[in-house]
Amino acid sequence: MPCDMVVFGGTGDLALHKLLPALYHLHREQRLPTDMRIIGISRKLLTRERYIELVEHHCRAQIERKDFTEVIWQSFSQRLAYLAMNAEQAADLSQLGHFLAPDNLRCCIYYLATAPRLFASIASNLALAGLTGPNTRIVIEKPIGHSLQSALEINSALGEAFNEEQVFRIDHYLGKETVQNLMALRFANALFEPVWRAAHIDHVQISVTETLGVENRGAYYDQAGAMRDMLQNHLLQLLCLVAMEAPVRFDANSVHNEKVKILQALKPIQGLDVRDKTVRGQYSAGQIGEHATPAYYFEKDVDNDSDTETFVAIEAQIDNWRWAGVPFYLRTGKRLAKKTSEIFIQFKPVPHSLFNDSQANHLLIRLQPEERISIELMAKTPGKGMHLQPVELEINLAKVFQDSRRWEAYERLLLDVIENDSTLFMRRDEVVAAWQWVDPILQGWQQYYQRPRPYPAGSNGPEQAHSLLEKSGYSWL
Ligand code: BG6
Repeated sequence: MPCDMVVFGGTGDLALHKLLPALYHLHREQRLPTDMRIIGISRKLLTRERYIELVEHHCRAQIERKDFTEVIWQSFSQRLAYLAMNAEQAADLSQLGHFLAPDNLRCCIYYLATAPRLFASIASNLALAGLTGPNTRIVIEKPIGHSLQSALEINSALGEAFNEEQVFRIDHYLGKETVQNLMALRFANALFEPVWRAAHIDHVQISVTETLGVENRGAYYDQAGAMRDMLQNHLLQLLCLVAMEAPVRFDANSVHNEKVKILQALKPIQGLDVRDKTVRGQYSAGQIGEHATPAYYFEKDVDNDSDTETFVAIEAQIDNWRWAGVPFYLRTGKRLAKKTSEIFIQFKPVPHSLFNDSQANHLLIRLQPEERISIELMAKTPGKGMHLQPVELEINLAKVFQDSRRWEAYERLLLDVIENDSTLFMRRDEVVAAWQWVDPILQGWQQYYQRPRPYPAGSNGPEQAHSLLEKSGYSWL
């Protein structure tokens, strides 16, 4: 079916840095429906020509030279249109209606690349303008709300305008190749299933560290913080994929059913536990590589008395048969020493050790910067005596598949929306269950007025994040 995509927030960072370059790649690989139009919308008064120039500028900057050719750009730009309007005004949306001329033979995807506070009003205004027929879909970005209550309100406003099957809640981590590989590793190899449980796994660490600060997003980030920006969504999604049972089929509902069970089984962290099981941090001035960087509260658009966290670490527990008693340590932060996203599974030691220097095995799944999976095993060192040493068994996925272009997360996810496949998106109840777990932690921080612990930019986070593991005899990878 022919299809159009309307991008609200069409001149914003997300649209220009991620969505439009991803659409360019899909166009280049001839994956987009032939006559699909891409309509940018924002309040800025721009002509179509000026919008095309803006998109071209960003696509040139984002896309590798070899992939950006004049001929392909010219044909891609034919798809682009621009409408200046205030999507919070129902009347303005009738202008969009005239442009789209909706009928039952054309599908329309509304992508809300806007601040979450606009989700509910844009959805209602689309409904008022008669633009939410059965052939429409709506895509929204995380964070969905800033609390359980606001997420419920957004979900219910969306629910009044669209059926749940028409709503695509994006978490771009689910579009990353290695994240999907996690499911392949677990559910396409018989090797791991028997040991993937509390009897054999000692603890799990999920760590997403960044060197970037808040860049131009101070105004948004200062309201959100690391908990709402990263942990409530990306890290909890990774936790679900590590911990969930095998779905009966690889389809949207079967996968969502298993993920939601994990979120609902997360042991609540509330009251005094908030002090013992969570750590908030905020970066102070420091050095990353050659560059001296300012403290968080000196960043653009950030309150200079801000107590927003730029780092969070949590000890979580999943109360179910498979995982009872296994700590899951989650950690994320900005302006840390390195950019990495990794999942570290520490197995238990052998039940009876024959050798002095034997150590427990571990599995490391690195999502970025390089995509690799490695298992550390014990091996005997050459020569006399039974001396052991850990050795790595490694699969470098980028090397194994070096002839294939690595898709950006948004390319995969946008194509899934076009093809109406919501397997790699979040269902309404998943978002609610994630907030149900996160909300008491946010409240606890307020209740005990737990100010973020300072950590120098370029470090590994606040000292207290290390103590969180040390008290159980562990350390962060
Ligand atoms: C986004 C967050 O969702 O993810 C950003 O809003 C963060 O603050 C980004 O920098 C990290 O994504 P990635 O793909 O670079 O790990």
